[in-house]
Amino acid sequence: MVLQRTKYPSASPVQPTVQAGESPAVDSTLRPQTLDEYIGQEKIKEHLLLHIAAAKSRREPLGHTLLHGPPGLGKTTLAHIVARAMHAQIRITSGPALEKPGDLASILTNVQQGDVLFIDEIHRLRPIVEEMLYAAMEDYALDLVIGKGPTARSMRLHLKPFTLVGATTKAGAISAPLRDRFIQQFRLSFYTPPEMHRIVHRSATILGVLLEDEACSRVACSSRATPRIANRLLRAVRDFAQASGGSAISLASVESTLASLDIDADGLDATDRTILTAIVDRFNGGPVGLSTIAAMLAEEEGTIEDVYEPYLLQQGYLQRTSKGRMATKRAYEKLGRSLPESAQAMLFV
Ligand code: ADE
Repeated sequence: MVLQRTKYPSASPVQPTVQAGESPAVDSTLRPQTLDEYIGQEKIKEHLLLHIAAAKSRREPLGHTLLHGPPGLGKTTLAHIVARAMHAQIRITSGPALEKPGDLASILTNVQQGDVLFIDEIHRLRPIVEEMLYAAMEDYALDLVIGKGPTARSMRLHLKPFTLVGATTKAGAISAPLRDRFIQQFRLSFYTPPEMHRIVHRSATILGVLLEDEACSRVACSSRATPRIANRLLRAVRDFAQASGGSAISLASVESTLASLDIDADGLDATDRTILTAIVDRFNGGPVGLSTIAAMLAEEEGTIEDVYEPYLLQQGYLQRTSKGRMATKRAYEKLGRSLPESAQAMLFV
């Protein structure tokens, strides 16, 4: 499936239709619909509000916007919010889904005035498809070559002005020509513990889950500073609590759910601990190359780099050096090992 559509026609609180491939309960019910409802990422919200108001007053589409950052932090949610705020239709696709230039051409020629075109994993566009985006972004035009050989001629089709919202977990993998065509570029960061607490509290309220305050904090702290994980954990906690009866969900109940999911008090899961243990025990704390870590875990390099590493780096369990990844003092402490002197000299602690 290349494209999904949702229309946000007016300021009225229209519920978006459920998108194919998402869990309706998690993504549509819990997803904030407006910037006011959206918790955290304050600077991004501030800028978006300003640019949205300015674009609306000029009666123009919002400038093309790039959102980057680790998975689960709310890039797709922000694209929906932007479309709703602009009273525009959102069309959703992804880099890997656009296999041929024709796939993109058919989307672009159907784009309506002011539409938001959301391309997830935009760093995975094939170069031939990406090149087609340049004129579309800059001139709202589609350059087509008709025919082959000496009789080939080029033709320029005019498109309706639209907003491209690109999302990526790898800003560094985007080519300079594509990156430079985005007017706004925002990097989403991990959420702070108070923000996570508010997100879990909001989700629990929407789901009708009664959660004691300490239980809410524990879910918040065990979710890798990531709302998508918090919402998933909250649902698991709710199911476990439901199975054992009772009213408000207690800290003990959350702790037993976390234990059964193998998530520790710092929110690290079994894979996180396997990564740290492998670096510490098998490679003396590193440096170890990403490909070696991936091979040891039988995981894709991209999964380690995009899903696991960002949080381990942010929390100070890992350091990236030119020679590879190194376990930090905090990682040694977490695993209950003492830091060897050789490692002390190499770490920037
Ligand atoms: N649910 C998921 N992300 C959220 C956010 N940033 N604010 C409020 N609710 C959310």
